[in-house]
Amino acid sequence: MDATSQRFLMCRPTYFAVDYAINPWMDPTAPVDTALAVRQWEQLRRTYLDLGHTVELIDPVPGLPDMVFAANGGTVIGDRAMAVQFRDPQRADEAPAYRAWFEAAGFEVYDPKHVNEGEGDVLLVGDHLLAGTGFRTAHPSHAQLQEVFGYPVVTLQLVDPRFYHLDTALTVLDERTVAYLPEAFSPGSRAVLRRLFPDAVHATMADAEVLGLNAVGDGRHVVLPAQATGLAAQLRDRGYQTIGVDLSELRKAGGGPKCCTLRLRQGKASQ
Ligand code: ARG
Repeated sequence: MDATSQRFLMCRPTYFAVDYAINPWMDPTAPVDTALAVRQWEQLRRTYLDLGHTVELIDPVPGLPDMVFAANGGTVIGDRAMAVQFRDPQRADEAPAYRAWFEAAGFEVYDPKHVNEGEGDVLLVGDHLLAGTGFRTAHPSHAQLQEVFGYPVVTLQLVDPRFYHLDTALTVLDERTVAYLPEAFSPGSRAVLRRLFPDAVHATMADAEVLGLNAVGDGRHVVLPAQATGLAAQLRDRGYQTIGVDLSELRKAGGGPKCCTLRLRQGKASQ
């Protein structure tokens, strides 16, 4: 299996905190160690650099504790970037910050007409854009994604509030394969996933509950939460090389490695 070198956007968790609860993982009364969050995040960044990937950085903004979750900053394919619109007011000001970064970096920026939380809910696998809905990204935004990028969009209905973003329930391993937690999807969406990915890896609830599916693959390596040992073994059986990272502090906000990582894909957007 060949690794494809990736370009990522990340945001250092300088102002990370859990001050509000917008998903079931977040408990504002539990202590959070921001310095430890920064060290864990640095380890993730170092892992990408050691794999030969490029990491771009966006400046963190005080008062936006969830801005570390760069996956929610947009959806990027080729020279097009679709900006985001958050469901929750607590995260609203992240959208213009990421939008400005895309503009400055030279992307053609499209504005969302509906709630759209970027790559948290939008994943490209081969020639399909998988788009989650049910908790955050609104269904009508899927049609806009298809217009902007010119890839067929496959709507997937999320049903478990712990797996509120698609990237907490499904991992893209390479151009044709994914790993996912079947229980996180509606019966119809499970049938769609079986049809599209008959060889997919089915994760266990135990691995999903440590956000094991919030992983980043490059076709050969998969960077995933260190605690997801069962999933790592399943992936190694399939020939992937797994690299565990500990992001326990960030998990207190409901995020893992993939949430911290926005793919700046080189692929072709529609013409
Ligand atoms: N606290 C953040 C939220 O609830 C976590 C976002 C995680 N990001 C992701 N791509 N799943 O919005």
